[in-house]
Amino acid sequence: MPSADSSDEPASFFLTTPIYYVNDAPHIGHAYTTVAGDVLTRWHRQRGERVHFLTGTDEHGTKVERTAQAAGVSPQEWCDRLVEDSWKPVLRTVDAANDDFIRTTEPRHEKGVQRFWEVLREAGHCYASTYEGPYCVGCEEFKLPGDLLEGGLCPVHGTPVEMLSEENWFFRLSAFSEALLAHYEANPTAVQPESAYNEVVSFIKQGLQDISMSRSSVAWGVPLPWDASQVVYVWFDALLNYATAVGFGTDDERFAQTWPADVHLVGKDILRFHAIYWPAMLLAAGLPLPRQVFAHGWLLVGGEKMSKTKLTGIAPSAIVDHFGSDAFRYYFLRAIPFGSDGSFSWEDMSARYKSELADQFGNLASRLTSMVERYRDGVLPAPVPNEQLSAALQQAASDADTAIDVLDLQSAINAAMGFVRTVNNYVTETEPWKLAKDEARAGDLDAVLYCTAESLRAAAVLLNPVIPKACSVLWSSLGAEAQLGPISEQRVDQVARWGQLPAGARVTKSDPLFPRLDELSDAGGRETAPGG
Ligand code: ME8
Ligand code: MG
Repeated sequence: MPSADSSDEPASFFLTTPIYYVNDAPHIGHAYTTVAGDVLTRWHRQRGERVHFLTGTDEHGTKVERTAQAAGVSPQEWCDRLVEDSWKPVLRTVDAANDDFIRTTEPRHEKGVQRFWEVLREAGHCYASTYEGPYCVGCEEFKLPGDLLEGGLCPVHGTPVEMLSEENWFFRLSAFSEALLAHYEANPTAVQPESAYNEVVSFIKQGLQDISMSRSSVAWGVPLPWDASQVVYVWFDALLNYATAVGFGTDDERFAQTWPADVHLVGKDILRFHAIYWPAMLLAAGLPLPRQVFAHGWLLVGGEKMSKTKLTGIAPSAIVDHFGSDAFRYYFLRAIPFGSDGSFSWEDMSARYKSELADQFGNLASRLTSMVERYRDGVLPAPVPNEQLSAALQQAASDADTAIDVLDLQSAINAAMGFVRTVNNYVTETEPWKLAKDEARAGDLDAVLYCTAESLRAAAVLLNPVIPKACSVLWSSLGAEAQLGPISEQRVDQVARWGQLPAGARVTKSDPLFPRLDELSDAGGRETAPGG
């Protein structure tokens, strides 16, 4: 839990995504992690916390080295091109509001990596030896014989592993088994979900072996400060991004203020690195451990992990061009419990777009704004209490907030959308279009219009972290922007206070928040079938 040292200081929250390999362009699996992180970021910001959201790219190692070679360019050229043309743009595609983007080829990172390993070697945590065994380039991972499928195939990539025999420097991972076990026994939420926690604990209990922390047959990496014939093994370079990005090795004061991370969001493919190797490195350096590693599930294609290496990726823009970034963000977090595997389907996406975003949320917004325009010349009537809606709102806000704390993004969205459904039912039952025909019931109509608008005010605040573009349009058309300030500054922990929209707010009918799909220009991409 984020904790503030003094009551004046807002709580802080430091959240990370993995840094992605630049061997190819991003697919929706990478965007999934980034969007989840972005929704959490926006939620915590709307709690008034000082949030730092970090993402970036992992640029060293065999995989990138070979890809660049095959393309006939230098690794640096390859990385620069991919980062600028693909990895940074995808953040805009999915509307991610990251605070920093770290590249492992930046001097601030390379300096920190060298400093870190220098410290560990001086403390006696590294020694020279020979590594002999299997390596998967797709995973950039030294494999244990028990990890492999029959025929020596990597279980993640289904490709043959390579046999390595190299003089390397080793990290004394085995020395940290007990300390790690003790840490996880004392902190059962330090790895989530529970299945991931159990996997990590049982892996440690099998006994940890020392592991190569350098490579001699790879040139594209950070040179070992004490042995120029070796570069730091790409994972023991990449994991350090979480520390170097906030000043480790270059700005000690900033590092001390920001570290440790509150949540490392990762896919379950890289759980072991984050929940075993990384904390062991930190223990060796005498640094605090991250508060939580959360391993989410995989987006699948034909029952297997969607993958750059296997060329089964769908580009995020193929979906965003058609449905918009809000719907993209909403769909994956709403449809798949965070922590479980799931598949993308155009049919399911279209169905939820229509029934949830357009028919429930969008339609409620256009019903209300057009009624206030038509019946009250766009001027919001005075606040009135409504116990039923207030109670439903209070419940929804508190359920959503509780769910966010355990990274149950699906339940958080369901809580907000459940409230939207309640408000729709309220409008249907109170039949304002009938009240409008009866001059004697003008007061009742005022009340229904106010309560619906005020409910939409709250729904916009609660859904803003997930669908920020639509909520910001709604915010303006409720006249809330002018009265209450920017939506991004609305506090989710005060959203249930009834009566925030004042009398006289200028309500204007806006274009549909989620237009009918057949009215959208088909910007292409619908033909992009998984597997291509
Ligand atoms: O592993 N479903 O980078 P990477 C869900 N550079 N999430 C997916 C996914 C899928 N099918 N495919 C990828 C690396 N992801 C290392 C990380 S961190 C210090 C270094 C997401 O390009 C998910 O978050 O292979 C996964 O863990 C990450 O992308 C792996 O990206
Ligand atoms: Mg991968």
